[in-house]
Amino acid sequence: MASSPVKIAPSILSADYLRLGEQVREAEAAGADYIHVDVMDGHFVPNITIGPVVVEAVRRQTDLPLDVHLMIEEPERHVEAFAKAGASILTVHPEATLQLHRTIEMIRRLGVRPGVALNPGTSVSLVEAVLADVDLVLVMSVDPGFGGQEFIEGVLPKVRRLRGLLDGAGFAAELEIDGGITPETAPRCVEAGVRVLVAGTAIFNEKASVAESIARLRESATRALEGGGQ
Ligand code: DX5
Ligand code: ZN
Repeated sequence: MASSPVKIAPSILSADYLRLGEQVREAEAAGADYIHVDVMDGHFVPNITIGPVVVEAVRRQTDLPLDVHLMIEEPERHVEAFAKAGASILTVHPEATLQLHRTIEMIRRLGVRPGVALNPGTSVSLVEAVLADVDLVLVMSVDPGFGGQEFIEGVLPKVRRLRGLLDGAGFAAELEIDGGITPETAPRCVEAGVRVLVAGTAIFNEKASVAESIARLRESATRALEGGGQ
């Protein structure tokens, strides 16, 4: 389980917040690679979630990298607080910040890995100029704001385009997908070039344990990587 080349990043958005520490530890024990933390401000997206205080609390529960997804306006005003709280990766949306390059540099100087995220309706051209400067490119496969939405198949050509751009230029940024990821949708994402799968409801749900859900997702991703399809 340990050395699969596809990483799994459970999104705590769907976790039970009253048992958050326990659920994060369960995900870590089950072989999760990152813990994905969704920060929403009620402006950039319609929902409001959590801030640095919770990131700090999660940081104390796990040694895994914290993959913090900032769905907030003017992320440059908050990156320092999230860095101090223990974020390992800070991903921003290009529409939310006036000076994307400066914000990425700011994150890097704070000792955190910078990432950029693309909404389903946002073109690759908005981040093309910074692909050399980031460690992660996140493709949203739902409109951001809520867990449990349906996967948007139409983002896959964008994933293939990004895979080509990154490989063609020899850039090492990880390609991550977020939204509607399940053992059914993951294989197509992996085939298109994704190497980090974010999953919320497919991992934290009533139907199966966190360990079983992570194992199913990993199995589907590994099969796709080996060319077995679904
Ligand atoms: C959505 C968030 C996602 C969300 C995914 O705006 O960015 O990380 O938790 O949830 P699922 O996997 O349920 O689509
Ligand atoms: Zn997210």
